[in-house]
Amino acid sequence: MPRIALYPGSFDPPTNGHLSIIQRGLKMFDGLTVAVLRNPAKDALFTVEERAELLREAVNGDPRVTVKVFEGLLVKFAEQERVNTVLRGLRAVSDFEYEFQMANMNRKLDPEIETLFMMTGEDYFYISSRFVRDVARLGGDVTGLVPANVLRALKKRFDK
Ligand code: PNS
Repeated sequence: MPRIALYPGSFDPPTNGHLSIIQRGLKMFDGLTVAVLRNPAKDALFTVEERAELLREAVNGDPRVTVKVFEGLLVKFAEQERVNTVLRGLRAVSDFEYEFQMANMNRKLDPEIETLFMMTGEDYFYISSRFVRDVARLGGDVTGLVPANVLRALKKRFDK
């Protein structure tokens, strides 16, 4: 049986931090299902379909990576996908509390599901989708923080 992990997130937009977790996750798992949350409550820059496509392009069609959109509870999606490991990146102490609560809530909802954390590489610990969005919106340069296709998509979105 191939070992697959679920790597969920908002990915609005995908960053090099996300890509680094995907690449490193692939050293531990045979495949990853990247799960993009459809969250109607959140004001998004890119639609979920655009984010999923940006992720697919960014992994260069790597057959080990499947990108899917999900809505509702993560544990339900994991059950549906028959995957019981959730992979999350951990940047700084500030991430810890939220991630700790989420992992425990998910374990309460489904004790079969384990969350595995990978420390973000030192080059990426300060990158977040939110900052990338803000900086790009305000005309700052996010070269090196996001994959080339995301950089193009951001330029297209914000260039007048
Ligand atoms: O990239 P993000 O925004 O930190 O990802 C958060 C995500 C998508 C992993 C999380 O919000 C999620 O799993 N949402 C689905 C709803 C859910 O299962 N909630 C209960 C767990 S707290």
